Amino acid sequence: MELATEKKMEKTVQLADRVNRISISPTMVVLQEAEKLKAQGIDVADFGPGEPDFPTPEHIKRAVVRALEENRTKYTPVAGITPLRQAICDWHAAQLGSAYQPSECVVNVGGKHAIFNAICSLINPGDEVIIGAPYWVSYPDMVKYAGGTPVFVETLANDAFILRASQVEAAATPNTKIVIANSPNNPTGSVIPPMEFARLQDFCNRHDIWLLSDECYSHFVYKDAKPFSAASIPGPKDRLIVAGSFSKTFAMTGLRLGYILAPKPLVDAIAKLQSQSTSNPTSIIQYAGLAAMRGSMDSVAAMQEEYARRREHILAGLRAIPGVTCTPPMGAFYVFPNVAAHFSPQMPDTTAVAKQLLEREHVAVTPGEAFGAPGYLRLSYATSMERIDEGLRRLARFFGKAA
Ligand SMILES: Cc1ncc(COP(=O)(O)O)c(C=O)c1O
Repeated sequence: MELATEKKMEKTVQLADRVNRISISPTMVVLQEAEKLKAQGIDVADFGPGEPDFPTPEHIKRAVVRALEENRTKYTPVAGITPLRQAICDWHAAQLGSAYQPSECVVNVGGKHAIFNAICSLINPGDEVIIGAPYWVSYPDMVKYAGGTPVFVETLANDAFILRASQVEAAATPNTKIVIANSPNNPTGSVIPPMEFARLQDFCNRHDIWLLSDECYSHFVYKDAKPFSAASIPGPKDRLIVAGSFSKTFAMTGLRLGYILAPKPLVDAIAKLQSQSTSNPTSIIQYAGLAAMRGSMDSVAAMQEEYARRREHILAGLRAIPGVTCTPPMGAFYVFPNVAAHFSPQMPDTTAVAKQLLEREHVAVTPGEAFGAPGYLRLSYATSMERIDEGLRRLARFFGKAA
């Protein structure tokens, strides 16, 4: 009997092909290493986090508590409560110039879930999805999970990492099903100008290709850039998917709330998928979302202002380091410097740079390889000005020695 149990434990686990096709998010790996050092009491200058360092605004927190006290703890409709779907449509129309009905809105467990469900609802084996590189780490794996093939289009630092319609056109084939546009972009901070977006949308419409516009950072834009949605471009929207998130805009990453705005048949398909997987997003968090959509945008404006200040500061600090170049980001809360001039036989890529930075200077950054961009590091400036200064001092010392 004992022998049989032992034998059983030795057996390898035969996982499904779709799970073997994907890997753990590489950004999480860096965060885990930094967390280990912090747990040992080490003072880490942490440029890793992809989330706001601000607390969730008071009126949103109060709405969660109120919902709990009012016993709003039961199942809700799978696609979200109707007042929230209506409020998202109203907010999106007022903030970003769209015109959706609640039947064209489905609420999800965060923007990641929203994009995952949209991809899984559309992609068949053999379908291709065009993704601008550098890219948010999850897109390629989501496409692979669904059985599709990611096709990368390299955006260029000297073109502000803008995804151009001409590049998409050159990469498209009869198998292209979706083009993903992420503006503002994680990791580069690039913002696609409205004219270029219109060209992308026109190309997709003419070729019956879906345009998936990930607008999770819409409200964090700088200089001349204004919050913008592809849904505000005149013309047909029957191949447009807008993915939105409460995570960054309202500093509520852990509460997990996002949405899709899309033609009703796709919204219905996503709701069907949710009905057999997650069911509704957490009931009380939907009330947080309602408060966010109906409440004041002052806290969002305050966060934007603070990010703008930090952006200037970190850009100036990085550019003062010899051998480091940095395209100014126009949105999100990341800078994406190129440090390839510091490569050496001991430090041949940015994975090695990030490792040594963490070991020698206790600075946490995300290597560019994670985003399909060797030579670059991603630094989040969703951290205090003091911590940015401390991190810059250590970076200057590190690259001073490394050069
Ligand atoms: C570009 C981009 N899209 C979507 C998401 C998803 O965010 P969430 O699932 O927290 O809404 C993220 C989070 O880092 C992101 O960077």
